[in-house]
Amino acid sequence: MEALVCRVIGDPTLPLSDSSPIVLSRSHPVPELNSPTAVRVRIYATSLNFANYLQILGKYQEKPPLPFIPGSDYSGIVESVGERVSRFRVGDKVCSMASLGSFAELIVADEKDLYLVPHGCDLVDAGALPVAFGTSHVALVHRAQLKAGQVLLILGAAGGVGLSAVQIGKVCGAVVIAVVRGDEKVKLLQSMGVDYVVDFTKENVIETVRRYLKTRGLKGVDVLYDPVGGKLTKESMKLLNWGAKILVIGFASGEVPVIPANIALVKNWTVHGLYWGSYRIHQPKILEDSLKELLSWLSKGLIKIKISHSYSLSEANLAFAAIKDRKAIGKVMIVLQNNSKPKSKL
Ligand SMILES: NC(=O)c1ccc[n+]([C@@H]2O[C@H](COP(=O)([O-])OP(=O)(O)OC[C@H]3O[C@@H](n4cnc5c(N)ncnc54)[C@H](OP(=O)(O)O)[C@@H]3O)[C@@H](O)[C@H]2O)c1
Repeated sequence: MEALVCRVIGDPTLPLSDSSPIVLSRSHPVPELNSPTAVRVRIYATSLNFANYLQILGKYQEKPPLPFIPGSDYSGIVESVGERVSRFRVGDKVCSMASLGSFAELIVADEKDLYLVPHGCDLVDAGALPVAFGTSHVALVHRAQLKAGQVLLILGAAGGVGLSAVQIGKVCGAVVIAVVRGDEKVKLLQSMGVDYVVDFTKENVIETVRRYLKTRGLKGVDVLYDPVGGKLTKESMKLLNWGAKILVIGFASGEVPVIPANIALVKNWTVHGLYWGSYRIHQPKILEDSLKELLSWLSKGLIKIKISHSYSLSEANLAFAAIKDRKAIGKVMIVLQNNSKPKSKL
């Protein structure tokens, strides 16, 4: 089978060659059904997350031994099943999230980790959903218990997790304020019915958000969703209400922010560090219920997946460049089973 293999740590945006960190192996061994409840899935689409980029750079918290096949969430079609598999049949459309290995034609998962894609849902959308929407759903619904009418401030709001947080925030009935960079991202968020959008390269975030809150008769921000870190987090903390919740999602800026404990004490803030993937080990039921709810929202049209760029496996370096260069608006995908794939923007 074809698979993308990371042989050495390095920059995944370099053109694929014999000496690049990632290479396309055209005769990689097909993964075996390794237990009676194992399922082999022919991958249709797999998504790129910032974490996949960081992992190949050697900057992610999980550092697998080399060589490895990167990739986490995916959708596909069941190709074969172990003798004790009871929930799936060959031909079923499924999606899931692996620790590694989805940048390949085939992957093996235990049946408990697979989710049936509801009838009528697009398979590329299903492959884009688990990590980004799963993270935002567990963060906003389970951890922050976001309520209708609360003010939600989202940093990096046009990225993979950011755009999912925007939509989940709207489903929950929150007042959603999005912070992004550039006209194209501002326009998209406005078209999605976000209550207020700030381009932080043109406006002072604190002043403009305060002005907006005043016009709505609102005091401050109840929940901060932060996949960016750095200076933006520092500024956003000035907007938080008494009793606010801070969701620490990631550090796309490269800078881990400092959240002063003395101010957290005085203002009764709650800081939630959230590592979605670790729910699989520590609280799998929460993750399972969350993904089932998201798939049902997808089938009802309550959430929509915005695919920003779409590439083949052999173009993976371009996919990583879209993430690195902050060109993604929504999800960057690798589509393996679609000859009429949408044209990429790069
Ligand atoms: N905790 C978890 O379980 C979990 C799960 C998924 C993702 N994450 C983390 O969340 C973060 C975002 O992931 P993602 O997959 O949504 O990535 P993404 O699609 O690339 O989005 C990142 C966004 O961050 C903004 N950004 C601000 N400064 C940046 C910088 N210096 N470099 C790059 N982007 C910058 C960009 O928006 P502008 O250009 O508009 O500023 C970009 O749209 C990552 O740190 C990732 O590791 C965490």
